Amino acid sequence: LSATVTADPAFVVGPVRRRTFGSFVEHLGRSVYTGIHDPQHPSADADGFRGDVIELVRELGVSTVRYPGGNFVSGYRWEDGIGPVAQRPRRLDLAWHSTEPNLVGVDEFMRWCARAGVEPMMAVNLGTRGVQEALDLLEYCNVAGGTRWSDRRRENGTADPYRISMWCLGNEMDGPWQVGHKRAGEYGRLAAETARAMRMVDPDLELVVCGSSGSAMPTFGEWEHVVLSEAYEHVDHVSAHAYYWETDGDLASFLASTVDMDHFIEAVTATADAVRAAGKHTKRINISFDEWNVWYQHRAESRPPSGDDWPVAPVLLEDRYNVADAVVVGSMLISLLRHTDRVHAASLAQLVNVIAPIMTEPGGRIWRQTTFHPFALTARYAKGEVLRLAVDSPVHETARFGDVATLDAVATHDPETGEVVLLATNRSVTDDVVLDVDLRGFPGLRVVEARTLSHPDHTWSATADDESSVLPRANTTAKVAGARARAELPPVSWSMIRLG
Ligand code: AHR
Repeated sequence: LSATVTADPAFVVGPVRRRTFGSFVEHLGRSVYTGIHDPQHPSADADGFRGDVIELVRELGVSTVRYPGGNFVSGYRWEDGIGPVAQRPRRLDLAWHSTEPNLVGVDEFMRWCARAGVEPMMAVNLGTRGVQEALDLLEYCNVAGGTRWSDRRRENGTADPYRISMWCLGNEMDGPWQVGHKRAGEYGRLAAETARAMRMVDPDLELVVCGSSGSAMPTFGEWEHVVLSEAYEHVDHVSAHAYYWETDGDLASFLASTVDMDHFIEAVTATADAVRAAGKHTKRINISFDEWNVWYQHRAESRPPSGDDWPVAPVLLEDRYNVADAVVVGSMLISLLRHTDRVHAASLAQLVNVIAPIMTEPGGRIWRQTTFHPFALTARYAKGEVLRLAVDSPVHETARFGDVATLDAVATHDPETGEVVLLATNRSVTDDVVLDVDLRGFPGLRVVEARTLSHPDHTWSATADDESSVLPRANTTAKVAGARARAELPPVSWSMIRLG
């Protein structure tokens, strides 16, 4: 098969936003405890944070980290997590049927963010709580001093306010599984009032209102419409969440998952713009795609404990990712970048141990899953502006999405260095695609680096003993001749070609 792509520096979608490369740490399973926090580990610092995890977070290139949930936040009392650790209560976490020991709270998390060099994205509880508790947390975090909660932060050892900019107004409030789940109108009012009050403290906050937990939710579309009709003027972003997985061996549909992601983004954008027009608003609401990944939700390891069993940090959602999963993760980043005009932030859910690119053994080894690599390479090299490509691709049929383009691609162009980075997936299960790139607007480019993630066995997964067998390898077929680049892309593959 062959596909042609035309790249032109004039066709700019928008900037490559660092916040596209966010991730997520929830009090869930071993994400925090024995994940980022493991005082017994040889690399642990005074707070108990693993230094080796921080190193891999930096290598991954994560920009923002959403915290503390997720479903967890909808029953969370943030005050439990401040002050002397020995005096903090243990609580039931209803979301994950676990016990929360509160060894890590907002102050520890903020110190971890500083060490990891990431921007925090804080979520408030709008499940069991409301406006007042959100204001208290905001005061604790962002007010300099001289008030009850800001002075508590100072007593707890942090003189300077954290000045957290991004705040999520609850989590997945459309989901019946959510503690404190609400109807759209109820949630829209609560979110609007919470946002209005938070802006009285700081008008410059960036506030994310909950959109749908997935495009398959029965309320999808209507939820966004109702919520934004209530909250439009008070918020900046609407959230979107999407998880994909291979069902019944239907690899072709799984590889084409971003057909759904593209549709999701475009539908939310259209709904937000419809509310804008009807309400005669001038600003635009953009998307915070603050949960996205591959997640095999039906597998046993995704089921929380039950009955009288309320463990601390159980093994939960520890999906082992294979090569095909990594290809889909790479293609989801292509979809997010392609929509950089309206997707202004995104979070890979999650970061450590829980549906994560980084895995740890308690007190022991650390390793990268297959999904680590497309994320790290995209975060490192996609710079400057996202280009709108003209793609002429063969199509093939899938059970779930009908005919889909076999090649999916996006490119970035850094006007400062002149580098063009092409990111592409071959969604075919069987065929190579010979990619031909028309670089007519970019004279004199050469291949700087070309890497392809693929494996004859797409079910290959990394382990602590062997995490490198399918590291994206040099793609030696990538060549430039005149104003055209050419590369062979194997089936079930993700590739990055840097031209400079
Ligand atoms: O990321 C895992 C869970 O997925 C989050 O807690 C929730 O928001 C979503 O349903």
